[in-house]
Amino acid sequence: MGRKKLILGQTLGFNQDPFFGSIQAATAYNSSGAIYIKDGLISDLGNRTELLSKYRDVPTFDYSNYLLTAGMIDSHAHYPQTRIIASWGARLIEWLNTYTFPEEEKFGDIDYARQTAEFYIDTLLKNGITTASTFCTIHPVSVDAIFESALSRGMRIVAGKTCMDRNAPPGLLDTVNSGYDDSKRLLERWHNKDRLSYAISPRFAPTSSAEQLEALGSLWQEYPDCLMQTHLSEQVEEIAWVGSLFPSRKDYLDVYQHFNLLGKRGLYGHCIHLSARELDRLKEVEGKLIHCPTSNLFIGSGLFRTWDRKADGLNVGLATDTGGGSSFSMFRVMASAYEVSQLCGHALHPSQLFWLATVANAQALHMEDTIGNLQIGLEADIIAIDLYSTEVISQRSKDAENIWDKLFPTIMMGNQSAIRNVWVAGNEFGDLSRN
Ligand code: GUN
Ligand code: ZN
Repeated sequence: MGRKKLILGQTLGFNQDPFFGSIQAATAYNSSGAIYIKDGLISDLGNRTELLSKYRDVPTFDYSNYLLTAGMIDSHAHYPQTRIIASWGARLIEWLNTYTFPEEEKFGDIDYARQTAEFYIDTLLKNGITTASTFCTIHPVSVDAIFESALSRGMRIVAGKTCMDRNAPPGLLDTVNSGYDDSKRLLERWHNKDRLSYAISPRFAPTSSAEQLEALGSLWQEYPDCLMQTHLSEQVEEIAWVGSLFPSRKDYLDVYQHFNLLGKRGLYGHCIHLSARELDRLKEVEGKLIHCPTSNLFIGSGLFRTWDRKADGLNVGLATDTGGGSSFSMFRVMASAYEVSQLCGHALHPSQLFWLATVANAQALHMEDTIGNLQIGLEADIIAIDLYSTEVISQRSKDAENIWDKLFPTIMMGNQSAIRNVWVAGNEFGDLSRN
């Protein structure tokens, strides 16, 4: 009995990708909907009246004033950078050296790692993010800390030990052997345990020797069902640096390709300044381009052309890249994606933005059969969004003509206060209106 519940509300999900075909055909909206949850799964979905009479004896929760959607997903983040988010005034390499690396050095201390992991996981949930793929630091305890926090909340998380054996402070370097061995041990400890997944995580080409990239490429071949996450083509200075470190490779992507770090389970953060050759290769192997617009604006990296990349047929996800990104809210990230795309000549529709934050990210993580949408059989990671969370949003959304017009002001101006409740595999995280 305790595992069954009925949630009433306006339900919104997707039938198909709104970047292709009509928005109407893509939209699954019910202004008087209901979700029946059983054993952590969405077990039925439909009209309020119909489900109320079908499931008479289960606890019922009335969220009819709110929009019920799948929990949002963040497909690229760095939980150890939580405490340095919004650090002023540097471009990528200087930002890493000045703020990021000194902070990441602290994560050899398990207590520090645990405190930050706990705060980070709660921050995700308060923001309606029910799954994230996060880098840790080079320290194995930083990986244990985030997986333990997620496990204790029954949350679906992807994480991995960041590997770096050069071009970082001595306290933040592993070696070819320890990077491989620690990653393998952590992978065996955590991968597929409950709702947890391991991602092999070379930070980016400049901080790994050729030997380390090769070792991690072979680890991935040993565990091909794992994800692999890294950074690619974020800033022009970084690309020039990769060119000087790997002079015999054709381009940045060719470094990863050469060391068997290119594949459809590869998540490539940023991907802003790619050549036609690199884009073709990513398309061919179905690699995932993870757009991090708040970060790209904050660190001054450049404009990712979402519209063009989708038209090219590439797989695009959307992410906070905290703490290079300046917000934990996927609303803020969607707003930045909208603004960046405007500068590139295309206004992304709210359905397209919300698709990127949910289904597209689930696809990037190869979890679209598990999370990211409201569909029977998917896990019940669900959020209740208040479309009237501020007076300014309210006066704009109250007269909106359809659900996407109603959601758009929250996408552009909303924050954590618009998330009114979160269910993680059907369990209530807490009614946030009471916080
Ligand atoms: N490139 C390599 N490491 C990082 C990082 O931590 N953040 C961002 N934004 N880019 C990176
Ligand atoms: Zn990153």
